[in-house]
Parts: sequence; structure tokens; C-alpha cells
Amino acid sequence: MPSARIRTAVLISGSGSNLQALIDAAKHPDYPAEIALVISNQANAYGLTRAAGASIASEVIAHTDFPSREAFDAALHAALTAHHIQFVCLAGFMRVLTPEFVKKWQGRMINIHPSLLPKHKGLHTHQAALDAADTQHGCTVHWVSEGVDEGDIIAQSALDILPDDTAETLQQRVHVLEHQLYPKALKEILNTQCQSHL
Ligand code: GRF
Repeated sequence: MPSARIRTAVLISGSGSNLQALIDAAKHPDYPAEIALVISNQANAYGLTRAAGASIASEVIAHTDFPSREAFDAALHAALTAHHIQFVCLAGFMRVLTPEFVKKWQGRMINIHPSLLPKHKGLHTHQAALDAADTQHGCTVHWVSEGVDEGDIIAQSALDILPDDTAETLQQRVHVLEHQLYPKALKEILNTQCQSHL
């Protein structure tokens, strides 16, 4: 293994299928990231089982245990720092982060969103694409900035919406694209623009 692998944390709230895609990609010796920590704000997130299965350290930091967003984000930052994390991937992490936290990780934190941003920010993106009569839909990897789903776009993957697609079929088909796009985008970022800043 190259010694310069970037210690990467993945923040989740649920199933963690994108986490799994990142874990699988990082098994390759030439992959530039080591998935060194998984943090969930939900104790029952299945992604924690995935982390355990891959012998990856994990922490549950429940937002409900904190009096404010600031206090929760301070605990997140402390955990990331304690594990010497250099880069953060949000993967279905269902918390809005404070500007202070985002500033601390600016240029070192990315997210995957299930739409072709700037279209359909927020939740229920698959139904939104159908309601808008879009002909294409997909997913976006982007830098995390203060505005939710508003950071600079890194990479996108698109599919054609079929006449009989529903929100559920779109979710399934976009998920397949996400699992390909996220590991690829992380690899490209770490191999190019980021290494010198980490
Ligand atoms: C994905 O669709 C991701 O784009 C969005 O939340 C979902 C998480 O799915 N941000 P999973 O937990 O990775 O399976």
C-alpha cells in the first residue's frame, strides 16, 4: 500500500450503500483514499454494520444528544480530528452542517446528491424530476459549501428517464450510477487537485 493514502471519513445516516462502494474501491492498493472512519448520527444505520464488516472504526454521534447544531458539529469535528482524518465524504448524511463546520473542512469535504444539480436540491429528487417532466436524471458529486447542495460540481452521471419510470425505479437506477460515480470522483480529486493541500 502506498503510504500517502488519504485518511478519509464517511458520514452516513442510513443504509450506506455509497459507503460500501467507497469501501470496495478503497480495497484496491492503488486507490488514493483509506476509509479510516465512519460516523453516523443514527445508531441503527445499516452502514455501521458495513463498517464493522470491513473492520473500519465507527462512531455514533447522535444529534439528539446535543443542545444545538453547533455543539453537534463540534463533536463531529472532534471525532474527525481525533482519528486524524484528512478528507470527508458525506454519503446520505441527513444533517445540515453549520457554516463554522463547513469552513473548517472547506476544500476537504464532498457530497453525493441524487439529482443533476443545480436541478432538484434537497429531498425527494426522483419525484421532482418526474414532476418537472425531465428527460434526464442522475447524480452529482460536489464540494460541500454553506448552501445545501450548492457547492461547486465535481462530477455527474446521467440516465434517460423512461416512460414507465417511477420515483422508486429512478431511485434504484440512480443508485447504481452513484455507486460508480462516487468512488471515481473521490479518486480523481485525491489524485489531482487535493493532495498538496491535505
Ligand atoms: C443517496 O441517494 C445519496 O445520493 C443521498 O442519500 C442517499 C444515501 O444512500 N445523499 P445510501 O445510504 O448511500 O444507500
